[in-house]
Amino acid sequence: MDKLLLDTLNGRKRQRIPIWLMRQAGRYLPEYRALRTRAASFLDFCYTPELAVEATLQPIRRYGLDAAILFSDILVIPDALGQRVGFVEGEGPLLEPLRTSDDIERLSSARAAEHLAPVYRALELVRAALPAETAMIGFAGAPFTLATYMIEGRGGTDHHAVKGWAYREPESFQCLIDLLVGAVVEHLCRQVEAGAEIVQLFDSWAGVLPEEQLFRWSVQPMIRIAEQVRGRHPGLPVIAFPRAVGPGILMYRRPEAFAALSLDTGLGAHWASQHVLPHIAVQGNLDPVLLLYGGAPLEHEVNRIIDKLGTGRFVFNLGHGVLQQTPPEHVAQLVDLVRRRDLPSGQI
Ligand code: CP3
Repeated sequence: MDKLLLDTLNGRKRQRIPIWLMRQAGRYLPEYRALRTRAASFLDFCYTPELAVEATLQPIRRYGLDAAILFSDILVIPDALGQRVGFVEGEGPLLEPLRTSDDIERLSSARAAEHLAPVYRALELVRAALPAETAMIGFAGAPFTLATYMIEGRGGTDHHAVKGWAYREPESFQCLIDLLVGAVVEHLCRQVEAGAEIVQLFDSWAGVLPEEQLFRWSVQPMIRIAEQVRGRHPGLPVIAFPRAVGPGILMYRRPEAFAALSLDTGLGAHWASQHVLPHIAVQGNLDPVLLLYGGAPLEHEVNRIIDKLGTGRFVFNLGHGVLQQTPPEHVAQLVDLVRRRDLPSGQI
C-alpha cells in the first residue's frame, strides 16, 4: 500500500497533498479529555501503552489524517535520564532545574531504554492498528530545546539561564548537548525499530539563539542526530522543525540529513517557495489561530499556502501545535479543504 506522506517525502508522484497536524491529539478533543481522567499524571498517561495508543488513534479515526504521531512528549527524555519532571495542570511542564556541571554528571542514560519501554510498546501497538495508508511518525525534542527545559525548569522564560550557561561555560554545555544527542539517537532508533517510518525533531526554542549559537547548539546537533539515526536506518526520513529561526532555516537546508523542513507561521509561504522548496521538502505552515475561527479566513489561507507550496514536495501542517480551544469541527473543515484541492499545475 502506498503511503502518501512517504511518497511525498521521497519525491514520488502522488495524487494529492498529505496532511497531518502537530498536536493533532490532545485536549481540544472531548474523547481525549475523557481518556485523560484515567491516569493520575500526564507522564503516567504517556507510559500506559493502552492510553497512549488510544490517544494516538483518536484523531486518525475522526479525520483520517495521512499520518499518526505517537502520543508521548519530548520531556520523557529528561525523565528517563533521571531528572525530576512534572506536569502541572494549567501550567505545563515543571522540572527541577540543572544548576551546575555536577547536575549534568548525575544524569545517566544507563536505564533510559528500560524506562521508555512502554513508549516503544505503545508505538508497536499503534502501528499494528493503523490503516495501511497511514504513516507512523516517531519524534523527539532536539537537544537545545531539551536543554532549555532542563536548565530553565519550564517553558516560556527569558532563556537567561540556558543561554548564559552556553555563553559562560560552553564546554560543560557541550557535554549536556552531547549526552542529549546520544539519548535522542537511541530514542529515535528504538521508535523506528518499533515501527516508526518517519521521525520528527522538534527544536521549539531554537529561535532564541543568535546565528553562531544557532549553528552550534541547534543545526549541528540535529544534523549529527539525523546522520547517526540514518546510519543505523538508511533512508529513514527525518523532518526538522526548528521553530522561529526566520531565514536561519537556510542553515538546516541539508537534504543529506533531513527529508523535510517544517516551517513555523512566521516564515512566509511565498519566501519558502523560493528559498526552501526548490531544495528540500517543506511542511507547514498554517497559523493555528485560524483554526479557532474556521470559515472563510481559514479557507483563504489554506488556498494561498497550497498555491505557493503545492507545486513542490509539500506536506500540509500547522506552523505550531493545535491550540487547546480549537473547535474539532474546524479541524474537519481544514482536512476537507486540503483533500478537495487539486494540486496546482506544474507539481513534481
Ligand atoms: O499529537 C501530537 O502532536 C503528539 C503528542 C505530543 C505532545 N507533546 C503531547 C502533549 C508532542 C509531539 C509533543 C511535543 C512537545 N512537548 C513539544 C514540541 C512541540 C511544541 O509544542 O513546540 C514541547 C515543547 C513539549 C513540552 C510540553 N509538553 C509542553 C510545553 C506542554 C504543555 C502544553 C500545554 O498545552 O499545556 C506539554 C504537555 C503536553 N504534551 C500535552 C499534550 C497533549 C498537554 C497535557 C495534558 O493533556 O494534560
